[in-house]
Amino acid sequence: MSGSFPSVRPRRLRTTARLRAVVRETRLSPEQLVLPLFVVPGRGKSVEVGSMPGVRQWSVDRVAEEAGRAWEAGVRSVILFGIPEGKDAVGSHAWREDGIVQQALAELRRALPEMLLVTDVCMCEYTDHGHCGVIVDGDVANDPTLELLAREAVSHARAGADVVAPSDMMDGRVGAIRRALDAAGHEGTAILSYAVKYASGLYGPFRDAADSTPQFGDRRGYQMDPPNGREALREMELDLAEGADMVMVKPAGAYLDVIASVRAACHVPVAAYQVSGEYAMIRAAGARGWIDEARVVDESLVAIRRAGADLILTYFAIEAARRLRAG
Ligand code: PBG
Ligand code: ZN
Repeated sequence: MSGSFPSVRPRRLRTTARLRAVVRETRLSPEQLVLPLFVVPGRGKSVEVGSMPGVRQWSVDRVAEEAGRAWEAGVRSVILFGIPEGKDAVGSHAWREDGIVQQALAELRRALPEMLLVTDVCMCEYTDHGHCGVIVDGDVANDPTLELLAREAVSHARAGADVVAPSDMMDGRVGAIRRALDAAGHEGTAILSYAVKYASGLYGPFRDAADSTPQFGDRRGYQMDPPNGREALREMELDLAEGADMVMVKPAGAYLDVIASVRAACHVPVAAYQVSGEYAMIRAAGARGWIDEARVVDESLVAIRRAGADLILTYFAIEAARRLRAG
């Protein structure tokens, strides 16, 4: 069809930067990046997360500083995680009107009116046992958890969230959240479902940042088993049937095959989460001079795009967006 060497020379299209730029197949832009933000109680706080150098927990009065830097760089959305004032067995701080995420939503809406505000909806930051749902007989009980997640989502919507993102992996939660949002008059609030979330070792640093380590057991009873690829499509289909507007795959870098298959099998925006462990590994090797950090960050993000993600949640959002802007 297209001949062979020596008339064909693929290197011709790689000879100059201007030619490479023209034939590039995948593009990444700052609007496709979503910056995760951790919000903590108190005032004047900006505390670096030990296992995530460069990532900080912010108090409500200062969270707009970091979000503003993202905005300046061209990032148009943030996803909020709250570390509450107190924890209990059912995570009741998750749906308080004056809860940490609810306050942060008001502050960000005031400071950056055009920013897209996404909230993570889960129980693990709010429960004293650190699991993503309520415990019955030593196990995370699916159905009783749904009502709590729905309450949390409605509370976030009322406080100004544009998009709620359930990350708990309970069965039926997208439907429960959709019904509750609609019943409360929030039919315009979108759901970005963490539809395909694996039980990954790469969430370790996040659990320091969000103070959400399970006090017993692990999350393998509700998050997906890493060897399973087909099951991702089943999770995606169920969430779409229940009313998810967008679906997410998480983690990203080790699951590019899953991103590609989800992208091919649905017609909604697909997000991918480059998680805390992916961030920490790149930062750690970069700090030792073992890799060219900026180059590896950009390569990791474009690879996630190439696999098919429309949106990327990443702790590198600000610096990556700045480099994209600088060209
Ligand atoms: C809450 C939640 C987690 C992450 C996002 N939402 C932690 C977990 O499931 O243990 C992980 C994000 C990251 O590692 O960056 N369920
Ligand atoms: Zn959780």
